[in-house]
Amino acid sequence: MKEASQKTCDVFKLCLAVGITVTFLCDFPSTQAASDGDSGNEEKGSGTHQKLLIIMLDGFRWDYYKSQKDELIAFPVFLQDGVQAEWVEPIFPSLSYPCWTTISTGVYPEVHGIIGNYMFDLKKEAMFDIFNHSTTRMEHWWQNSEPLWTTATRHKRKTFLRYWSRCDVAFDQIKPDTCSGFTEARGAAAIKETLSVAVENLQKDYDLVMVYSEHIDNVGHKFGPESPELKQAMRDVDSALSDFLDNMLDTGLDEKVNIVILGDHGMKGVGEGSNVTYLSLDDYINASDVYKVLDRGAVFAITPYAKRLEQVYEGLKGKEGFDVYRREEIPEHFHYKNNRLVQDILVVAQPNYFIRGLAQSSKQVPRDPATVQYWGGTHGYPNMTEMRTIFFAKGPGFKKGLVHPPIQLVDVYQIFAHLLDIPARPHNGSWTRVSGMLTSRSAREAVCDLCIIIFTMCLTLFNFVHYPGTMHT
Ligand SMILES: *[C@@H]1O[C@H](CO)[C@@H](O)[C@H](O)[C@H]1NC(C)=O
Ligand SMILES: *[C@@H]1O[C@H](CO)[C@@H](O)[C@H](O)[C@H]1NC(C)=O
Ligand SMILES: *[C@@H]1O[C@H](CO)[C@@H](O)[C@H](O)[C@H]1NC(C)=O
Ligand SMILES: *[C@@H]1O[C@H](CO)[C@@H](O)[C@H](O)[C@H]1NC(C)=O
Ligand SMILES: *[C@@H]1O[C@H](CO)[C@@H](O)[C@H](O)[C@H]1NC(C)=O
Repeated sequence: MKEASQKTCDVFKLCLAVGITVTFLCDFPSTQAASDGDSGNEEKGSGTHQKLLIIMLDGFRWDYYKSQKDELIAFPVFLQDGVQAEWVEPIFPSLSYPCWTTISTGVYPEVHGIIGNYMFDLKKEAMFDIFNHSTTRMEHWWQNSEPLWTTATRHKRKTFLRYWSRCDVAFDQIKPDTCSGFTEARGAAAIKETLSVAVENLQKDYDLVMVYSEHIDNVGHKFGPESPELKQAMRDVDSALSDFLDNMLDTGLDEKVNIVILGDHGMKGVGEGSNVTYLSLDDYINASDVYKVLDRGAVFAITPYAKRLEQVYEGLKGKEGFDVYRREEIPEHFHYKNNRLVQDILVVAQPNYFIRGLAQSSKQVPRDPATVQYWGGTHGYPNMTEMRTIFFAKGPGFKKGLVHPPIQLVDVYQIFAHLLDIPARPHNGSWTRVSGMLTSRSAREAVCDLCIIIFTMCLTLFNFVHYPGTMHT
């Protein structure tokens, strides 16, 4: 009897020790990682992290590369050495700010709370407008989910970001080392310059560099995804990438840095001759019944006056060209509805339709200039081939010359955390969807897994010793 309780006690102590190790290794920065940061940038032995460069190319549709491969020089060279996901399925709505925030947090819009490029917080009477930076800069929009650069900064990874979303807004009072947030930087010259700034900073002691270009998206919106202008924009980016790859070779960084090139969403042609029908919201609702209409085109949210909700809903219900949902009717698989910023009515255009906003009312945000009759391209639609985007990667962390099955936008965050050897925050990605593209688990993950196995065995043993079975009774 005494012997048994002694055994129980020993096993219990062992479990406790392993449990503490698991907690320490898996939830907190390892002491090893922290000292890596201090001991300079030479990577020696196991457990040290590699540098990571993330290049986001806005509006890079999944098939742009494939359809223009023969004219491009740098992309094929890059992919020969790396991994290419067949495509990346974006989130709903497939719009820039929601997609960017999913990339940096790994969670769906209903979780991170950036559910559109235009949002309205009725409680705070606050607008969020992608092109009015004094609205997007308000901290309160951004406190739901911790972005990659904050976790990296907490774990002593030195971080540099350029034109990247609202990295200039503190999360939990933490800001990355260097960041300039999203601001318009149009044209081909901007991407060239941005990539050269990226190399400069990789040569310094930065561990994580994240840069952004809107060139392909701008051209896609204006001229359409099938236009000669878009093909030229692809050549512009290819040329910038070519200079960048040369620069990486010259500086000896080429083999050392993990590089990810990804997009946020695709683009659907909606220009003249595209078989897309344009509808006008004014034909279905009366502007005096609503308080706000947010966005237009593929998807928009309506805040009717409370007493007019049914009237507005009935005006939209059952019409050709779009689906309308009361807040509680929004499909779960959009992963959109469970957020307090969701408005009373959501309208989602069907594939061959574009819906114009209220023409004459300042309740419409944004208002299109009267001169714009047709767009070349747009995005925001749910579950549509044209909304898919890209994930290309190369470096010591990735396999070489691999075409990988499709992944989802929520999956990419965990890859970044893995490459930086920092613990990922809770997210909606699936590890089994991405692990096949990676060369190995990080040292921390390997030790962590081993500890969990020992801990489990330990608990089983403890149970066995403590409750030796039902034979006694
Ligand atoms: C941007 O938003 C702020 C705050 O809502 C507002 O005061 C300002 O007029 C807006 N600027 C423009 C150019 O719309
Ligand atoms: C054109 O759009 C209509 C719906 O507006 C759709 O039924 C039809 O299949 C489309 N045709 C083509 C060739 O895409
Ligand atoms: C819109 O609503 C206003 C106020 O209720 C009303 O005066 C007007 O006639 C309505 N317009 C249409 C086209 O129904
Ligand atoms: C997306 O569309 C495809 C084909 O149209 C369909 O088979 C699939 O069920 C849809 N998925 C979702 C989540 O709606
Ligand atoms: C997405 O992840 C968040 C954070 O872990 C979680 O709260 C939420 O339930 C997840 N959503 C889905 C659909 O799994």
